[in-house]
Amino acid sequence: MYNQVFREFEERQQSFKNRKLCTTVLIMLSRRTILISGLRSILRQVGSVMFGDAHNYERFMGRWSEVAAPLFAKFAGIPDRGKVLDIGCGTGSLALAISGSCPLCQVEGIDLSREYIAFARTRTKNSHVRFQTGDAQKLPFATGTFDAAVSLLVFNFIPNPARALSEARRVTRPGGSVSAAVWDYGEGMRMLRIFWDAAGALDPSAERLDEKYMPLCRKGELSELWARGGLQKVGELPLEITMKFENFDDYWDPFLLGQGPAGAYVKSLPKPRISALREEVRKRLGEPRGTFTLPSRMWAVRGETTRG
Ligand SMILES: C[S@@+](CC[C@H](N)C(=O)[O-])C[C@H]1O[C@@H](n2cnc3c(N)ncnc32)[C@H](O)[C@@H]1O
Repeated sequence: MYNQVFREFEERQQSFKNRKLCTTVLIMLSRRTILISGLRSILRQVGSVMFGDAHNYERFMGRWSEVAAPLFAKFAGIPDRGKVLDIGCGTGSLALAISGSCPLCQVEGIDLSREYIAFARTRTKNSHVRFQTGDAQKLPFATGTFDAAVSLLVFNFIPNPARALSEARRVTRPGGSVSAAVWDYGEGMRMLRIFWDAAGALDPSAERLDEKYMPLCRKGELSELWARGGLQKVGELPLEITMKFENFDDYWDPFLLGQGPAGAYVKSLPKPRISALREEVRKRLGEPRGTFTLPSRMWAVRGETTRG
């Protein structure tokens, strides 16, 4: 449901942007001053979507995935050697953390975003780590290819998570493990919780975009999916990281980069409302003057595929 609401919101933004683009192009054409490079840059802007800019994603959330990845990899209990699949690998933080701690593992990362995959490839020359584009709901791997499948902060974004889980299970060998983690958006993920509480207080229409309505982000939801999906020995745990911010701008500025549901929401607002939201968030953070920290909790699940 949440993903559908958000997609409708994105489509409205996109059609608004397309109208703006058409007007811009028509004006440029009529003045006969159109430059190919200028058009390319406009098209790039129009094409930018929630997960469309790797550098901005890194600044906004990727930096926290890097902190979360080793903790989650430890929870997932990656074997000392063998093949590991990172589903929704994004810019590559988890795949790289696994290959760093498990030099004998062959890690494959797969993600829908071409931009993120291109960025992930630039982060390593290690032939034991490979990245490719693809859909978690239709994995391009043979049955039983992997010893473990992992997925960090992705399952809540997948339209049909049961299908993705069934695919993860299919490509994992019997007796292998399938693990995933999702932010606890409703409560324990303080960075986004404070943002959405402030947004909802100023704008009632922000409420329905609040990531607390994401599927699979509450205690017990992932493990229920795993159990229904036929995984064995299912276990769920909260995993917590500490987000350290240099100052308020270090917290706030990445929200202006258009990444993720929060970034896309900010991007949809006119400037005065962005300023008002900034002030509301700052107030709710206690008007920090220097460094500050926020705890952030994920729910993590692990299960095993049935032995043949
Ligand atoms: C919040 S990001 C997490 C990325 C990465 N795992 C990390 O921790 O930084 C969510 C990722 O899920 C990917 N994604 C969403 N739906 C997907 C699908 N159906 N198949 C593969 N990747 C998907 C997005 O492209 C995005 O990279």
